[in-house]
Amino acid sequence: MNVLVVGGTGFIGKHLCVELRERGHEVTALSRSPEDETLPDGVETAMGDVTAYDSIEGAFEGKDAVVNLVALSPLFRPRGGDEMHHRVHRDGTENVVRAAESHGVRRLVQQSALGADPNAETAYLRSKGQAEEIVRNSNLEWVIFRPSVIFGDGEEFVPYTKKLAPPYVTPLPGGGKTRFQPIWVGDFVPMLADALEASGESDPHLGKTYEIGGPEALTLAEVAKLAHAADGRSVGVVPIPMALAGLGLKSLDFVPGSVLDAVPGIPRMGSDQYRSLKFDNTTDTNDIDAFGLEEGDLLRLSAYLDGSRGGNDTDVTVVDGGPDALESDGGSDASGTDTET
Ligand SMILES: NC(=O)c1ccc[n+]([C@@H]2O[C@H](COP(=O)([O-])OP(=O)(O)OC[C@H]3O[C@@H](n4cnc5c(N)ncnc54)[C@H](OP(=O)(O)O)[C@@H]3O)[C@@H](O)[C@H]2O)c1
Repeated sequence: MNVLVVGGTGFIGKHLCVELRERGHEVTALSRSPEDETLPDGVETAMGDVTAYDSIEGAFEGKDAVVNLVALSPLFRPRGGDEMHHRVHRDGTENVVRAAESHGVRRLVQQSALGADPNAETAYLRSKGQAEEIVRNSNLEWVIFRPSVIFGDGEEFVPYTKKLAPPYVTPLPGGGKTRFQPIWVGDFVPMLADALEASGESDPHLGKTYEIGGPEALTLAEVAKLAHAADGRSVGVVPIPMALAGLGLKSLDFVPGSVLDAVPGIPRMGSDQYRSLKFDNTTDTNDIDAFGLEEGDLLRLSAYLDGSRGGNDTDVTVVDGGPDALESDGGSDASGTDTET
């Protein structure tokens, strides 16, 4: 197949490009600033911004299938404010769907997130829910994935947790009891590829929305402890009452992003990040069985961090990732504008 991976230069995108190349597909990775040297051999690149239709539509010509992985990180307040979630996730998806339909693309795999809902409490999840509706209303063969957090070389969740909860004594909202269900990128991307490749009358994935998680649910505090233990450090958690944490994080909404960026130690966060800590990021029913997997087949975060599988998932060059590379920079800023809040 000839596959376009929109957002193919990001963490999951690079791993997916490797998987698709290994399966013998032609692959093009589209992003605003694709850098060939960071992508696996044989992957073509296309430059475009999903918020600008004319900049992306040419890349859809001749493609059989598209994966939409573009996103703003939910861990940080976006540059340009929370409205950017809607521009990138909802409007960007609208452009991806329109371009795919216009160019006769058959199939779309849409990456969403657990809790996506047009009426969700955070802008990130509302915009992801709106994007899902656009995909469901399209004429394409579609499959939607809602994963919990994904770990592996180049990810941001573990480095983020280590910064949020530094050793040795760390205050965490609500004692860090929010639960996550981390899944290894090496277990996750083959599912994306399977969903992309399926076709025909007995297509098992057509029109499905899959909730995907790893083999265990871990609290934020447990993730912090595991991550630091892998470096030989310990963490003692001091609970901050949620209401107090909420007051602190909500007040950051009134601080311009440029100020947050300039002051070390203050995270680029706000009320959306506070609200996201109030809900578990776990599956109701883990849909990995749709891909012939059981939880025992999946790599645990502790095993990854201990390096029991070497910690090297695939042959991906990670240029600006890695466990200690994350700065509080708002993650990847997909705004495409320099608008600041
Ligand atoms: N990582 C996780 O734990 C996790 C968990 C659940 C769901 N997800 C979802 O999985 C998807 C991929 O996540 P990820 O961790 O791989 O994200 P990522 O590393 O931040 O990658 C995002 C990709 O999108 C591109 N991009 C951003 N804004 C763009 C725009 N306006 N136009 C075109 N390309 C743009 C980026 O490249 P440029 O910056 O060069 O444009 C990059 O290639 C997202 O939908 C995310 O919500 C991730």
